[in-house]
Amino acid sequence: MESPFKADVLKGKVVLITGGGSGIGFEISTQFGRHGAAVAIMGRRRQAVDAAVAALRSEGIRAIGVEGDVRKQEDAARVVEETFKHFGKLDILVNGAAGNFLVSPEDLSPNGFRTVMDIDSVGTFTMCHEALKYLKKGGPGKGPSAGGIILNISATLHYTASWYQIHVSAAKAAVDSITRSLALEWGTDYGIRVNGIAPGPIGDTPGMRKLAPEEMQNKYSEFGPLYKLGERWDIAMAALYLASDAGKYVNGSTMVVDGGLWLSHPRY
Ligand code: HXC
Repeated sequence: MESPFKADVLKGKVVLITGGGSGIGFEISTQFGRHGAAVAIMGRRRQAVDAAVAALRSEGIRAIGVEGDVRKQEDAARVVEETFKHFGKLDILVNGAAGNFLVSPEDLSPNGFRTVMDIDSVGTFTMCHEALKYLKKGGPGKGPSAGGIILNISATLHYTASWYQIHVSAAKAAVDSITRSLALEWGTDYGIRVNGIAPGPIGDTPGMRKLAPEEMQNKYSEFGPLYKLGERWDIAMAALYLASDAGKYVNGSTMVVDGGLWLSHPRY
């Protein structure tokens, strides 16, 4: 689907996207690139990162891939540094890396719980922490948009409660809290805007393939207000809005992009 945004809304911007090699992260990489940004993709799997970079370059997008695990502070520091060295600056950080699997609380080991917290919550904080020195260009009192931008990919699971997702729900609740705290403190101190996006069920993603068998995916369309799964494109357009000047007064929000699904119940 064609983008409603002008092709130059992110012209000259440099973006680093964790988990940017597949699924929603890759769509954000692609759309940011198509709208003028240079893109650095961070991922754990070399092959996936290389394939994603090749696809972006084939469209004429300036892109690099850097292998790394957001759970390791030294990886986070190195990837941020390499991005800066290659492109000369860093304007936007998108935290898209996430771990997920379905398991009942009874069968989930504390280490399994910790693993997802480590990737989603601690990993998001670590990336923000390491990227800060490049993102803080605005300085005290400059207000939102004077500095860089952070986007944290969240979920809606923890707004209520979700079966077999105790670990991810806890992790994404922490991500939303990180979004608000950094929006307050880094917005005030450095003019950095920090926002989140909470996608609903998005078709054609590794997350959906793993978490929702096809028969469940059909169920969403039975009681979701907009009667369908979302597309990766929907999330990328929300990301473009928040990362561009269109969103210059938005700070500390997590935008729900789920067609209204989380607040709906089956009709009775
Ligand atoms: C129960 C599991 C498990 C499973 C791992 N563990 N998979 N427990 N069921 N399916 C437990 C292990 O037993 C272990 O605990 C601990 O977790 C660490 O496992 P490892 O395999 O050593 O971890 P690691 O290799 O680091 O892999 C972490 C991972 C990751 C989280 C499993 O590989 C992963 O899932 N990657 C997929 C990424 C992904 O799907 N991304 C899309 C996310 S979609 P013990 O106690 O045995 O040591 C998304 C959407 C959310 O986030 C919103 C949905 C609507």
